[in-house]
Amino acid sequence: MPNLLTIDDLTTADITAIIEKAGHYQTHTLAHQQKAKHLANRVVTNLFFETSTRTLNSFSLAESFQDMVVLSPDLSRSALAKGESIKDTLLTMQAMGSALFVIRHENDAWIEGIKPWGLSTAVINAGCGRTAHPTQALIDLCVIQSRFADLSQLKVAIVGDVKHSRVARSQIKLLAKMGVQDIRTVAPDYLQIDDADFSVSQFDNLEQGLKDVEVVIRLRLQKERLDEKLTTNMTAEVQRFCITQQALKVAHNDMILLHPGPCMVGEDIAEGLMDHSQNMILEQVANSVAVRMACIDFALGCL
Ligand code: CP
Repeated sequence: MPNLLTIDDLTTADITAIIEKAGHYQTHTLAHQQKAKHLANRVVTNLFFETSTRTLNSFSLAESFQDMVVLSPDLSRSALAKGESIKDTLLTMQAMGSALFVIRHENDAWIEGIKPWGLSTAVINAGCGRTAHPTQALIDLCVIQSRFADLSQLKVAIVGDVKHSRVARSQIKLLAKMGVQDIRTVAPDYLQIDDADFSVSQFDNLEQGLKDVEVVIRLRLQKERLDEKLTTNMTAEVQRFCITQQALKVAHNDMILLHPGPCMVGEDIAEGLMDHSQNMILEQVANSVAVRMACIDFALGCL
């Protein structure tokens, strides 16, 4: 069964099929509060080793609207807290019949770590360290494509703490794969992406970075991946990159503003822009259940 661990697991045909299937679920299933039945009673286990509001709850809803049996164990009350390994936990849940694991983990290495365990259960990565968050990137693509049909001409600016962001890494890979040629990262030098295999134009000036862009994606400072002293210094510096009405004047008239959340209002985006007509943050959330339903279909081989 195909896993969905990173964007590398998807072909462009898979990506197109996921977005189309999400559209189908949005219009024909979720809009009528109905459930898809083809995965009825398949068991899914959500294992969240790191906090989450959007991803955990939208996966839980997606799984419920797929009519699956959903387990979301409180890991602090599981045998993991007694020292059981993640491998043994996964093998135990697999033996109980889990067809799918949805995993969030703070450790960059778990994706590679699980590969040798030979699980027969499919795995979806729900956010891993600073490495990958493929389902969030697919949600963002879904929103972008709803506004811009021709991705090849699009200018996209990813602003903020790109260096520590799993969302940025997945977005850059996904957008490039889908033909976006002008991808910019806008951040101070020490928050720029440093992986050699990500091809982007780097800006440390907001006005230059936002010039003529149709899509602005703001990311928060990933404080949980920084030490405290650095965080205090960076918080002040990152204010330079706060998205304000003034900053957006150089962007394209049709610009849309995205943020994967959680958004630090006043730090990432000025409060006055939170209910702006071109702010699509809640549109991202609104699409998340349908996109994750389609991702589940991909992982279970029934897209
Ligand atoms: N975008 C995202 O992953 O948000 P959560 O941490 O709330 O899941």
